[in-house]
Amino acid sequence: MQFPPRLDIANTPTPLHHLARTSAELGVEFYIKRDDMTGAELSGNKIRKLEFLLADAIEEGCDTVITGGGQQSNHCRATALAATRMGLASVVCLRVEDKEAPPRAQGNILLDRLSGAEIVWIDHDDWARQQEVYEEQATRLRAAGRKTYIIPEGGSNAIGTWGYIRCSEELAIQLGELPVKDTTIVYACGSGGTGAGLVLGGKFFDFAKHQTSVVGINVCDDADYFVKRISGICDDFTGRYPGVATAQADDIRFIDGYVGAGYAKSQPAELTCLRALAARDAIILDPVYTGKAFYGITQELAKDPTRFGKRVVFLHTGGIFGLFGSALEAGYS
Ligand SMILES: Cc1ncc(COP(=O)(O)O)c(C=O)c1O
Repeated sequence: MQFPPRLDIANTPTPLHHLARTSAELGVEFYIKRDDMTGAELSGNKIRKLEFLLADAIEEGCDTVITGGGQQSNHCRATALAATRMGLASVVCLRVEDKEAPPRAQGNILLDRLSGAEIVWIDHDDWARQQEVYEEQATRLRAAGRKTYIIPEGGSNAIGTWGYIRCSEELAIQLGELPVKDTTIVYACGSGGTGAGLVLGGKFFDFAKHQTSVVGINVCDDADYFVKRISGICDDFTGRYPGVATAQADDIRFIDGYVGAGYAKSQPAELTCLRALAARDAIILDPVYTGKAFYGITQELAKDPTRFGKRVVFLHTGGIFGLFGSALEAGYS
């Protein structure tokens, strides 16, 4: 496959680990694709997308990137740090309840601050018109002589999609080395870019050959919303890069029902499950994305042990710093 220009700033390929104790506990062969190991400060899924997005920004001669997300956004933290690493400036627009009373610098916010990023606090009304907010920031920065590059929420657009197409290539090799077929790759979905990459990459690298399917667990909104959103990203991708792979709505599979109390709101059962995995296998999930998805896997398996076939490959998309951002509320202290 011919990939577009990419920065080499993620630690890839990431390993695929078999969790023997969790397999015994859940009654299925349980593997974990360690995308929480793509970096230390850059840990998680976002850096794979940013390798392509920032390469594009640099190719366009930009010196400042603008993006946004929730206050504990892993995407904003990874963007801020990756930009700094490449000698670019960054502006991160972080969504809070009250922009006059911003939160303390903990978790991802602390790392945003350390990276030197400019933080712009936005509220839910601003978020509803986020593209305009980014454009306003770009106008302000251009007036100061900067050349700006806007990265959408989650880095989820056609260019960012290459990140998980590339990960699909790793997965196809790793799946081919395992004895058992009949596998489901499960991932947490928040803005759709990881899902779009896995769906398109799964087609290009022929996951079907390994009897492998891909399913997302949404941590906000609902399955219909994400099928449409991922279809849209895939269509944009196919329009921009014809001939790689295409996806139809029925290629995009979801398990709905694990948003729980709402985006970034934890429930005791989810946290108990997160805590149990950490104590059993030293795998640290985050409360907002991977913790909810993993909880969903355990619940689905409890209802039907054959739900995912013989083997689950859980994509650990990172997010560890979100745990520090919400540790107090989550009752860990
Ligand atoms: C830790 C973590 N996992 C999963 C996701 C979801 O990925 P995507 O936005 O590509 O759907 C995100 C970000 O939204 C994340 O930060």
